[in-house]
Amino acid sequence: MARIGFIGMGNMGYAILKGLLNSYGPEDLLFTDKSKERCEMVGKETGVRFMEGNADVAKNVKFLILAVKPIVYPAVLKDLNGVMQEDQIVISIAPGIAVSTVSEGLGGFRRIIRIMPNTPALVGAGMTGYTLEEKLFTQEEIGEARGILKSFSEIVQVEERLMDTVTTVSGSGPAYVYMFINALADAGVRYGLTKKDAIRMAAQTVYGSAKMVLETGEHPEVLRDNVCSPGGTTIAAVAAMEEAGFRNAILKGCEACYLKSSGKI
Ligand SMILES: NC(=O)c1ccc[n+]([C@@H]2O[C@H](COP(=O)([O-])OP(=O)(O)OC[C@H]3O[C@@H](n4cnc5c(N)ncnc54)[C@H](OP(=O)(O)O)[C@@H]3O)[C@@H](O)[C@H]2O)c1
Repeated sequence: MARIGFIGMGNMGYAILKGLLNSYGPEDLLFTDKSKERCEMVGKETGVRFMEGNADVAKNVKFLILAVKPIVYPAVLKDLNGVMQEDQIVISIAPGIAVSTVSEGLGGFRRIIRIMPNTPALVGAGMTGYTLEEKLFTQEEIGEARGILKSFSEIVQVEERLMDTVTTVSGSGPAYVYMFINALADAGVRYGLTKKDAIRMAAQTVYGSAKMVLETGEHPEVLRDNVCSPGGTTIAAVAAMEEAGFRNAILKGCEACYLKSSGKI
């Protein structure tokens, strides 16, 4: 019996699997995917075993990670209905799918942890929000679940009502950051850099600035002010960006994400 199993080995399943391989051996892991080619490719690359049926994987693991798109959930839950045993734990990733919906689909099984990771998990720098009903698990199980999540990301526990907010900020967040990096790099190209150098400069600037926020504990506004000398170049850029609606573009984008995630649009 393996410790952790995956149903779905796409972008997110693979990112989590790679993270887990930093602290678990291939023999602790098991997966399946609809595509046999994908199974063979990932199995060959990582040494992790795969099985063909969803229920077969479910029967052979302590923690079962559901890493399929929300649209596929009804079919997967149908495969697993009545299969899960009381000593097992399901980890559900899909945005917008409530714990109660997963529980219903699994025939009343309740030991479900809902998480929202992001793809930087692939490089061990993910951010995951999670929610669980503590009384349904032992402290050891919660500790192990947190350890699983920590093997590929930082973690924050939230109430379930905030999971759409987690999707809005960190789940979808990498896409906004990539847009920013590319726009900053385009500016570099506009003023003479190669795209390759410009992307490297922009990405390292985002990485270093994020590190400053996390490691100094300073408010981003204070760090920004520290870079803006009176009458200088940076404040000129900041003022022009504000005039063009920088903050508002981000708030508007996040509003669309939140409404989509919470099923309001
Ligand atoms: N990607 C992100 O940035 C991100 C961030 C946070 C959360 N999530 C969530 O994570 C979950 C997985 O997303 P993803 O990006 O990894 O999706 P994905 O790349 O489409 O991966 C899902 C995998 O599951 C396979 N699959 C489909 N139906 C299946 C079935 N019935 N049984 C077993 N496997 C099946 C798919 O195969 P086929 O391709 O052949 O259909 C695919 O390989 C989603 O709920 C997503 O919303 C994603």
